[in-house]
Amino acid sequence: MTPAPTAPFDSPEVGRRFAGKVAVITGAAAGIGRATAHRLAAEGATVWCCDLDEAGAQRTGEEVTRRGGQADGRGLDVTDPAAVNEVIAEVLAASGRLDVVANIAGIGGSAHTNEETPERFAAMFAVNAGGPFNLVQAALPSLLDSRGNVVNMASITGMQGQAYCAAYCASKHAVVGLTKALALEYGRQGVRFNAVCPGGVNTGILAGFMPPEGASSSLVARAFLDRELQEPESVAAMVAYVASDEASYVNGAVLSIDGGTTAG
Ligand SMILES: NC(=O)c1ccc[n+]([C@@H]2O[C@H](COP(=O)([O-])OP(=O)(O)OC[C@H]3O[C@@H](n4cnc5c(N)ncnc54)[C@H](O)[C@@H]3O)[C@@H](O)[C@H]2O)c1
Repeated sequence: MTPAPTAPFDSPEVGRRFAGKVAVITGAAAGIGRATAHRLAAEGATVWCCDLDEAGAQRTGEEVTRRGGQADGRGLDVTDPAAVNEVIAEVLAASGRLDVVANIAGIGGSAHTNEETPERFAAMFAVNAGGPFNLVQAALPSLLDSRGNVVNMASITGMQGQAYCAAYCASKHAVVGLTKALALEYGRQGVRFNAVCPGGVNTGILAGFMPPEGASSSLVARAFLDRELQEPESVAAMVAYVASDEASYVNGAVLSIDGGTTAG
């Protein structure tokens, strides 16, 4: 099924903040990653759309190209450091530079923690925290050259606890920790690292977050101050701001976009 189109390129809020820049976006086959690819391309970036779902990554790349943007799609498992190195080398060979890495690929799921499997716990860490680590290691030399930046997709579960999501929550706290450590380590050399923490977004990942049998409805409800979900374009707009030069003083930030859920 072809997903619905995102905001048109000529909508008034779209600027040209990424003209001449090159971005690698993981998780670009669907949801927030796809919306981010459209948004950055609409603002002038050449976008490399990467995803485990190779056909989906290529489809996003083709959508962007059809709308007048510069894009390419690649199959990529972010947990595989050799594959990540290969894609980054390909980007540099073809595009000559790299300015933005948007680590958006992620997996999730809910469970009573006593029923969670070690395999699923490890997989969430490998994709959600290990993926960004692999991308950063591969991209750092070119980001140091371009004085670029990295946006890591965390979650409100990287800022606070959420019942029945211990594995996911721990992996998203890891993303926040990774982001802050990198911001300190490389900020003085001109490379910025920030984390974006959405509340509920209307994407496919939510299917895995159905409350497990016997879950307390009041504990589940704590994660949704506003029961209405935001659309992925809402989060893509925040990613675009953070990744742009307008945010040149934003480093090590943990930016919530959650309708107030984490406000108190
Ligand atoms: N939807 C929400 O409510 C919500 C809230 C907070 C944070 N997030 C985070 O936003 C990010 C994007 O999720 P989404 O909501 O767009 O869901 P989504 O399921 O639509 O997109 C996730 C994408 O990641 C890809 N992916 C999974 N494993 C991968 C791997 N090993 N290598 C490369 N790609 C892989 C999937 O194929 C998919 O295209 C995730 O990190 C998620 O944790 C989502």
